[in-house]
Amino acid sequence: MLERYAVYRQAVDEVLTNLSLLQSGSGELVTCASGTTPLEGEVPEPLKSAMVYSLLLPGKRIRPVLLLASYALLREDWQEALPFAAAVEMIHTYSLIHDDLPAMDDDDYRRGKPANHRVFGENIAILAGDGLLNMAYETMLSAPVCVKKPVQALAAIKVIAEKAGVRGMIAGQTLDVKLEGSMPQGELVAYIHRHKTADLITAPVLAGLLLADARDQQLRCGQRYGESLGLAFQMVDDLLDLTGDAQAMGKHTGMDAVRGKMTWPAVVGIEQTRRDAELAVRDAVEALECFGSSGEFLQVLAQETLVRVK
Ligand code: IPE
Ligand code: IPE
Ligand code: MG
Ligand code: MG
Ligand code: MG
Repeated sequence: MLERYAVYRQAVDEVLTNLSLLQSGSGELVTCASGTTPLEGEVPEPLKSAMVYSLLLPGKRIRPVLLLASYALLREDWQEALPFAAAVEMIHTYSLIHDDLPAMDDDDYRRGKPANHRVFGENIAILAGDGLLNMAYETMLSAPVCVKKPVQALAAIKVIAEKAGVRGMIAGQTLDVKLEGSMPQGELVAYIHRHKTADLITAPVLAGLLLADARDQQLRCGQRYGESLGLAFQMVDDLLDLTGDAQAMGKHTGMDAVRGKMTWPAVVGIEQTRRDAELAVRDAVEALECFGSSGEFLQVLAQETLVRVK
């Protein structure tokens, strides 16, 4: 299990490290204040450094791994899907940079390092997020698989755009910030979790399956898996904020209570949240039964979510 995760993860990290969109000449950090005109066609500094900074910090890479493993449920040549996997990580990283901004969760520590805006300032952090979001679509649209299988690739890009979009992750983030300090309510927190987190977990599962020519019934299994795993993933994130180890997680704990966030434990308590996360993972595992024994890696990955410490 861990070995296969490591193989996918390393492949994703290689793509992210060698992104041609972020390659350039000098590599020096030329600040705008130095008055140097950036070269046409290159990402200007300090935008590039800010994008690379957050993208290459050691995140868990669970979303790209989900995309590659979902593709591998049906086909062996999972390397074909790598640009899409990298793109999903760019979108996720943009969401983290913006999530940490003073106007959002106001967190100054992420992936074990100062948050993007603490290093580059708020203006560049906002633009680095914008940049990663756009670069994700450039990366997907330039992938070889777009030429080989345009119908499948477009379907995958569409599902990612929808789930990351204004009825998806951004919808969840909207309620997350607007409901700070409100009376916790089950239905509302379920909406927040479903969208701010589960949508960006479901998107790579569906995108991987679509790229691999999945049938409708297989897509339905993948959707149920992603939705249930995504809910459990955010329930555990809420629990870790209450009980986890900040150093292991690479982000501060206790912040949800400080900001009056509407979390799952705020509605049902810690013990019930644990039970609900277990039930959601059980549902995710069941959903993958339709893939027989090839679903095992993704089933174990879901179960590991329950015992994760970061
Ligand atoms: C953090 O995501 C934000 C949530 C949606 C809970 P991850 O826990 O996947 O963060 P990284 O990518 O490993 O840093
Ligand atoms: C973040 O949720 C969800 C997105 C970034 C879309 P949280 O605000 O709970 O994530 P952390 O705890 O800061 O990682
Ligand atoms: Mg948040
Ligand atoms: Mg946050
Ligand atoms: Mg959190």
